[in-house]
Amino acid sequence: MTTTSRPAIRLGVNIDHVATVRNARGGAHPDPVAAALLAVQSGADGITAHLREDRRHIRDADLQRLHAEVEAPLNMEMAATDEMVALACKLLPHACCIVPERREELTTEGGLDVAGQLAVLKPRVQALAEKGIRVSLFIDPAPAQIEAAAAAGAQVVELHTGAYAEGRAGELERLRAAATQAAAAGLEVHAGHGLTYENVGLVAALPEIMELNIGHFLIGQAIFDGLPTVIQTMKRHIQTASAR
Ligand code: PXP
Repeated sequence: MTTTSRPAIRLGVNIDHVATVRNARGGAHPDPVAAALLAVQSGADGITAHLREDRRHIRDADLQRLHAEVEAPLNMEMAATDEMVALACKLLPHACCIVPERREELTTEGGLDVAGQLAVLKPRVQALAEKGIRVSLFIDPAPAQIEAAAAAGAQVVELHTGAYAEGRAGELERLRAAATQAAAAGLEVHAGHGLTYENVGLVAALPEIMELNIGHFLIGQAIFDGLPTVIQTMKRHIQTASAR
């Protein structure tokens, strides 16, 4: 019997909070683009940056520099607004991940209600895809959202792991069922939010997961261990779990 090993899970490093620290003092240090370059040198497979409508961390100029100066694939997180779609269609990042956005939230608090906004999302997904951008929808691991993501024409779903990371009962099973359903619907499956060394393994062990996007923990832990060590350690945790 031949066994086929799964492709290595890609690690997308979200560098938003390097910009958060920079913006706290209004200067240029620490530079999120320098952090992205170091992250890639250290093993990141891609860079993720969220251009929020209020520009609270990443700014337009950061995104342009990330695109111009970093060779690894750029994943632009954004709300499904006309402004963001127009910016992405001009910038042409490798990928866009559409997320819900509320100004008062501290971080992306839940998945996108694709099922409830299909008519609004579908033309936006199509506009991005027509430019050759890989479009991902950030959703809760719920059957109706996965069906809607496929109906919207997305290539990828990113499953929101926030509730799992908070330790809520049954969440790993929801993620497992969602990953199976999404892959069966022909969607590439990614996951992210709240992932750490401790909780990444059970998500990485789900066989359908192709990419994990991780930010806050990596940037926070880099204060103690440095970005290269943190990225290498996270990759080791992911590889070990996915090889099981
Ligand atoms: N994926 C998406 C779509 C997100 O919005 C975020 C948070 O910006 C992440 C992944 C990363 O989450 P965290 O910063 O908690 O690792």
